[in-house]
Amino acid sequence: MGFLDKLKTDLKAAKDELVEGANELGGNKYKLVSAKEMLEKARDGKYAVGQFNINNLEWTKSILSTAQELNAPVILGVSEGAGKYMTGFKTVAAMVQAMMEEMKITVPVALHLDHGTYEGCKKCIDAGFSSIMFDGSHLPIEENIEKTTELVATCKSYGLSLEAEVGAIGGEEDGVIGKGECADPEECKKIADLGVTMLAAGIGNIHGKYPADWPGLSFETLEAVKEKVGDMPLVLHGGTGIPTDMIKKAISLGVAKINVNTECQLAFQAATRKYIEEGKDLVGKGFDPRKLLAPGAEAIKATVKEKMEIFGCIGKA
Ligand code: 13P
Repeated sequence: MGFLDKLKTDLKAAKDELVEGANELGGNKYKLVSAKEMLEKARDGKYAVGQFNINNLEWTKSILSTAQELNAPVILGVSEGAGKYMTGFKTVAAMVQAMMEEMKITVPVALHLDHGTYEGCKKCIDAGFSSIMFDGSHLPIEENIEKTTELVATCKSYGLSLEAEVGAIGGEEDGVIGKGECADPEECKKIADLGVTMLAAGIGNIHGKYPADWPGLSFETLEAVKEKVGDMPLVLHGGTGIPTDMIKKAISLGVAKINVNTECQLAFQAATRKYIEEGKDLVGKGFDPRKLLAPGAEAIKATVKEKMEIFGCIGKA
């Protein structure tokens, strides 16, 4: 081979390598991340990252675009029921990953299984989720410890974050029913010491709307848990309807992740109801699903923004 031909071959090989590297970098830019780093930053910076549960494409698009617009890290929560609704966890992971790429989402995004069973956790790990929650709160503490220990090892080997729960969260979410107990701080320490990334401790919080006679969050319990678990980022479930001052106090006491589900559903419902009650679906092409679902999608965006403002995570990506 002559000198020029060799030079051409070498140059082509170098170019291919560069393109491959650039593609890899580009790909990484839109990849899901574990929730570990974003939650440690939130804990240290005294703000909380929002977990917003998703149900379909519109939900996901609204949450991702708001997070990107506000430069905020975000966690997309998927309950087992919502996963099933969307035809399975593989569909969810593929949809979220593709949307991040198509929408050029560069803020940190974790795709997280919410209140997972042991079997659900395994499925989500296989499907490509970047974070999972094992809810062993209804199990005897020994069994919760045994299963959590195994999942800690699996998650570590895949670089995923793992949330554990102690003391069932009250109310009902997608068939997961809890009594609303306050967690035992000693049990929290036992689970935290297993090496989970974050811990959800029941502190009188409830999924869904709070009843009028709700006594409020138990800061006494939160303080006692924090004292036992040290630096572990804490998770507050049942974010819908908790007054702002209580949210802020919880963040000051170590809460670094707050879950919101019902509030986005209620906002979507109210906006969709208004559109139909005003007869807008009957005018022109108002029946087009892209028009019919648009007010609800906008309402989710407004709710996510409002929550992110309270949580203090705007601009923290
Ligand atoms: P809400 O539905 O009360 O907002 O609770 C969400 C939640 O905790 C998801 O795990």
